[in-house]
Amino acid sequence: MCGIIGYVGTRDVPSVLLGGLWRLEYRGYDSSGIAVIGNGELIIRKVPGKLSELEALIKRQPVSGGIGVGHTRWATHGLPQENNTHPLIDCNEEIALVVNGIIENYLSLKDDLESRGHIFRSVTDSEVIVHLIEEDLDKGLVDAVRSTVKKLTGNFAFAVISVNDRSKIVCARHDAPLICCYNSKEAAVASDISGVVSIFNDVIYIPNDSIVVLGKGKCNITNFQGREVRVTPRKVTIDVKDIDKGHFPHFMLKEIYEQPKVLHNIINERIVGGRVTLGSELGISDAEMKKVSRILIQACGTSWHAGLVGKYIIEKFARIHTEVDISSEFRYRDAVLDSDTLVMAVSQSGETADTLAGLREAKVKFLKVLSLVNVIQSSIHRESDGIIEIMAGPEIGVASTKAYTAEIVHLYLLALYLGSLRGFVSKVDLEEHIAALTKLPAQVEQVIRLDDDIREIAEEFSDARDFLFLGRGLNYATALEGALKLKEISYINATGYAAGEMKHGPIALIDHKMPIVCVNPRSSVYDKMFNNIQEAVARKGIPISVVTKGDRRTRGISKHSIPIPECHECVSPILAVIPLQLLAYHIATLKELDVDRPRNLAKSVTVE
Ligand code: F6R
Repeated sequence: MCGIIGYVGTRDVPSVLLGGLWRLEYRGYDSSGIAVIGNGELIIRKVPGKLSELEALIKRQPVSGGIGVGHTRWATHGLPQENNTHPLIDCNEEIALVVNGIIENYLSLKDDLESRGHIFRSVTDSEVIVHLIEEDLDKGLVDAVRSTVKKLTGNFAFAVISVNDRSKIVCARHDAPLICCYNSKEAAVASDISGVVSIFNDVIYIPNDSIVVLGKGKCNITNFQGREVRVTPRKVTIDVKDIDKGHFPHFMLKEIYEQPKVLHNIINERIVGGRVTLGSELGISDAEMKKVSRILIQACGTSWHAGLVGKYIIEKFARIHTEVDISSEFRYRDAVLDSDTLVMAVSQSGETADTLAGLREAKVKFLKVLSLVNVIQSSIHRESDGIIEIMAGPEIGVASTKAYTAEIVHLYLLALYLGSLRGFVSKVDLEEHIAALTKLPAQVEQVIRLDDDIREIAEEFSDARDFLFLGRGLNYATALEGALKLKEISYINATGYAAGEMKHGPIALIDHKMPIVCVNPRSSVYDKMFNNIQEAVARKGIPISVVTKGDRRTRGISKHSIPIPECHECVSPILAVIPLQLLAYHIATLKELDVDRPRNLAKSVTVE
């Protein structure tokens, strides 16, 4: 959600800014712009729409200079039109600002600023920041930023440059992500590491509530009160090819195909000598884990679906009462949490605003938080007591795929770990589970080989207006996830439901035109789910069933069936979701939609 980039140095500044914005594009945006200081003045180029349009504009109207900032905007306050696009400038056109976040008290600040004569060019909440800085510029840019941040409520990360000092970028962050890099020749700031990946070897994760003054060979970090903050730079561990599509037409397809490799790496790393190891940052001792009497998993979207699978598996193997909450509900519902409750956050990006707020809510109540995250050094990583890195690698496609299966496999590993610790999982059981997990990468590979068959099914249904997805037990979450994948990238109305709930309402939707994706691999609820499919058939619905290879019963009543390999019930949510990811992908590409950047969505949802 909104991408920030800033650069000062010897390279061609517009190219560095555009390159960074392209790599930050996945975060989601609907307009973009840059500001460069050349010949002592701010030169701004901005467009509503895609980065290709900004690139074309810069080609038509070139800019040059030694310092600049750039931005991709995901509209919150005000339409995606040129006046609302960042960089935003002050009344005197001396400073240019790019912001990610939401300023909650902007209306009162704006009233005050307007009463003091400031002219607003946009209807954004962010514009108040540039005018507040402008008011204090006589103290110098850094102090003006310091006094400004104290007046803001909400969450923000921003970078600002001034025509009066072309050697530095001043940045600040409060509850929104920002990183920076520097060496003796150049320096850059970005929303995340992908913005600067090809340029620097080391990165600084800017601490929350701090201000950074960044220039060639210079990076001074202070907190909002002005005290120096020391931060050790870390090695940049991703490289350009990790965030490149390679020979795939879309990131989403690449990431679906990467799942066998991701699972293989996880299993190799996490199962050592016949035991589950969850990494060096677990942060919660075995003794503390033994005392846990309740787990509360809070997450959003796809990560929430992974949490639902986690609930079933943790309760089954560790016998710990486990609840799963949507973070935006959890954070405001004043949940009953006693001292033996372990709160878990599950998040690919590690920056989801509601999940982060849920984590903080738990910490205010002095509870330990264990998080599953993909992005290392993200806010959720840094603020948790312990973390388990899900090891999915960079996920660029907005629709989450490989992170989902990596989250589930880690929740499964956690359940086994807790179960062993508490004596509910015997050595023999553990061996059986490890055998099931070890087979998984090759089995996922087999499912991916069905891609062409799934595309044919997609061709038949790409014009459908509505879809229903049904599942039970562990695969209830698979049904929800399949429906979410389809609706977010194909814009088809898709409803995921627990199949047993169908007759309490949604069955009324079924007619001869309704494709119903039924997730029914062999499991403890197979017969129950079979009955639910029969009920749908009796109402002329069109079942497309995910079944275990060789299952003739469900295949016999389905219009299409997609076979997954025979597997342990607990890994079935991983195998069964792959066809649903591919189905959604193909339907969306057949409709010629922008699969990697679906409308209105952002990869990293940093506002609530
Ligand atoms: C859907 C999707 C979203 C995210 C949700 C949480 O494909 O990607 O539903 O799962 O925004 O994001 P994270 O996991 O980054 O907290």
